Amino acid sequence: MSAFKPLVFSGVQPTGNLHLGNYLGAIRKFVALQDSYDCIYCVVDMHSITAQLVHADLAEQTRSITAAYLAAGIDPKKHIVFNQSRVPQHAELAWIFNCVARIGWMNRMTQFKDKAGKDRENASLGLLAYPSLMAADILVYRATHVPVGDDQKQHLELTRDIAQKFNNDFSDRIAELGLEVEMEVGEEKVNGFFPLTEPLIEGPATRVMSLRDGSKKMSKSDPSDLSRINLTDDADAISKKIRKAKTDPAPLPSELEGLEGRPEAENLVGIYAALSDKTRQEVISEFGGQQFSVFKPALADLAVEKLAPIASEMRRILDDKAFIDGVLRDGGERAGALAQKTMKSVHEIVGLLND
Ligand code: TYM
Repeated sequence: MSAFKPLVFSGVQPTGNLHLGNYLGAIRKFVALQDSYDCIYCVVDMHSITAQLVHADLAEQTRSITAAYLAAGIDPKKHIVFNQSRVPQHAELAWIFNCVARIGWMNRMTQFKDKAGKDRENASLGLLAYPSLMAADILVYRATHVPVGDDQKQHLELTRDIAQKFNNDFSDRIAELGLEVEMEVGEEKVNGFFPLTEPLIEGPATRVMSLRDGSKKMSKSDPSDLSRINLTDDADAISKKIRKAKTDPAPLPSELEGLEGRPEAENLVGIYAALSDKTRQEVISEFGGQQFSVFKPALADLAVEKLAPIASEMRRILDDKAFIDGVLRDGGERAGALAQKTMKSVHEIVGLLND
């Protein structure tokens, strides 16, 4: 019995501006993983219509995320970069997963509760089923590792639940067809058709917070632009936002424990650590005892040094739409071939007759 081939999959929605949280929590990790894994990076355009169906600029936003992937250093020749809607097998597998997953599982998702707000009955069915499509994104490639920020943890747990239920519900069929693959789960060895995907959520910036309120996540949808650093901000905007970032009056502590109860300080230290590839302890050792009037300019310089080249490369790439579209087309073809193979087996397992 073979083992799953290590494969990384992740995605970003083409809604709103990409910000520092997306970069540190996700895209930067996508870049780093390219050296040790085969990777598939997707622009999940079908997810972005779950909260709001009509987008005037969906295609432009899709190109913009693609440009950010490439500008950050993702190599679309060695790896696969494409947009979700080009590979219809995502939606097809999501439908099957809609029949595997239970309504109760979806109702428990905190992101659904947040996004649907008080008027849940009026949310789109797509918003409720969102995690099922996300599971399909990952499992249509039988991907084993998924780098994401902390806010996606619950969705990835659900992805494992869906894989496990499918493997259990169809275990006899999977064995009969010789499609079992062995995997290690903790100490145990289990087998099934879909892997129990591992989330990769680590480092000092898995949850970058708003610059205006250390208790809120940095987000594309925050009405205040001062709350986030956009990947397209120029040096002046980056410096201004860091200068205006909310802090408390005390100097930075010399020990990590001193950050407890100081969410804004903790956030800025985490951002500095991630951008400089240091641990938070190393940052604290360097800046402990210093005022924010010293730390903030150092952070602003570092952020400009790391982010400005990405912004200018993004602008350069965005000027060549034909190139971006070519990358997505080529990636879509390669992804489609892999997805088709999985779906052929899924049809056999489920018993859908269509050869
Ligand atoms: P999305 O588009 O909201 O965010 C893209 C990635 O950025 C991370 N992220 C953050 N990380 C740290 N701090 C923050 N403040 C912050 N805000 C966002 C997210 O965790 C994510 O990794 N459902 C996903 C997209 C998706 C997906 C997938 C991801 C669809 N299918 C399959 C992985 C695998 C989403 O809405 O991400």
